[in-house]
Amino acid sequence: MNIRLFKPSVGEEELEMIRQAFDRSWIGLGPTVEEFEKEWAAYSEAETAIGVNSATAALHLALATFRFPEGSKVLVPSLTFAATATAVLYNRLVPVFVDSDPVTLGMDLNDLERKYTAECVAVMPVHYAGHPVPMERLMPWARERSLKVIEDCAHTAGSRYKGRMLGTWGDVGCFSFEEKKLMSTGDGGMMVTNDPELFKEVKAMRWVGIDKDNWKTAQRYTAADKSAMHWFYEINVLGYKYNMNDLAASIGLAQLKKLPAMNAHRSALIASYLDGLKDIPGISTLLPFEPHAYSYQMFGIRADKRDELMVFLKSKGIATGCHYTPLSLQPLFAPWGHSTPYVEKEHQRFITLPLHAGLTLEEVRYVTEAIAEGTRA
Ligand SMILES: Cc1ncc(COP(=O)(O)O)c(C=O)c1O
Repeated sequence: MNIRLFKPSVGEEELEMIRQAFDRSWIGLGPTVEEFEKEWAAYSEAETAIGVNSATAALHLALATFRFPEGSKVLVPSLTFAATATAVLYNRLVPVFVDSDPVTLGMDLNDLERKYTAECVAVMPVHYAGHPVPMERLMPWARERSLKVIEDCAHTAGSRYKGRMLGTWGDVGCFSFEEKKLMSTGDGGMMVTNDPELFKEVKAMRWVGIDKDNWKTAQRYTAADKSAMHWFYEINVLGYKYNMNDLAASIGLAQLKKLPAMNAHRSALIASYLDGLKDIPGISTLLPFEPHAYSYQMFGIRADKRDELMVFLKSKGIATGCHYTPLSLQPLFAPWGHSTPYVEKEHQRFITLPLHAGLTLEEVRYVTEAIAEGTRA
C-alpha cells in the first residue's frame, strides 16, 4: 500500500469549470476571480475578499496595507511555515518569535505577553493544523496595545470558533489554496476583512499598482480628457504581480462547493485516527483535535522514538512529515532565533500523518495498525 501525506481532490467538476474558462478565452485576472471572491466572502462571513496567487502574497500584502515604519516588530509563532515570517521581512519589519502552547501548539499567549515590547506593531496568529488560537483572549490583549492582528488561516477553511469564523477575528485573514490545503486551486490565496476601507488599495497592490476599479472606462472616445479613455490607468501605489487568475478561480469555485463535504470527511478520518491511536503507548496526538468542531488541514502525533517510527512507516508505504522545524532554528532567521525553547525541543517528536479528502477509513486503520506495530518493534 502507498499512502500519500497530502493529496488534492480534483476531478470532473473542476475540469468542467476550466473548460468553461477556456470557452470564454479569459484565463487571466477577470470576472471569475471576482465571482470567487464574492463566494469566498459569503462563505467566510467577511465583508470583502480579494484573490491572490498564494497565502504568501496575502500575508505580504496584509502587512503592507498598514504601512508600518521600517524596523517595527511583528510577533509571529516559531512553529509555522516560512511564509508567515518572510512576509515580515518582505516588509522590512522585524520578526519576534513566540513559543508554542505545550498543549495546542498554537501561539503561547503567555510567551506572547513576555515577548511584547512597545516596538511591536502587529501579531500574526497561525491556526496551526487548523486548531483555533484562543482569539477571544488574544484580540482584547492586542487591541489594548494597538496591535494589528493578521490571522494566518492557511491550515483552516470554514471553521467557526466561539460563534465567529476564523479569519474574521483579526483585521485581516489570509487563506491558502496551495495543493496540500483543505481546498486547492493549484496555488492561490484569499485575503478577507470586515473593514473594506483597509483593502482600498489592495486590488492595486496585487496587480502591479494598477487599480482596475479606477480604470476610466470610455464614455466618449473622442473626449479630450485623458481620464475618459478606457485604456488609461494610474499607478499610485507600489504593487506586485500577485493576482489570482480566472483559471485558478474556476477551480476554486468548484472546490468551494465540495469544501463542506471534504471537511466532513476529514473530520471522520481524524475521529477514526483518534480512536485507533488512543491506547498506543509512547504516542500522543499532536494537539487535542476536535474534529467535530473544526476543520483540520493536518493530523499528527508526538512520538518518543520519532525517527525510527517514521522509517518503519515508510517501509509500510506510509508517507509522513514533520511540520515544522521551528523558524527560530532556520539559518535565515538566526539573528532573531533560538528564542522559543519549548517548541525548539518538542518538534523533534512531531510526525505528520496522511490526511486528505481522498483518504479512506481503511487506510487510516492501516496507518494506526502500523503505528501500533512500529512502536512495539
Ligand atoms: C501556516 C502557513 N502559512 C502560509 C503558507 C503559505 O501558503 P501558500 O503556499 O499559499 O503561499 C502556508 C503554506 O504551506 C502555511 O502552512
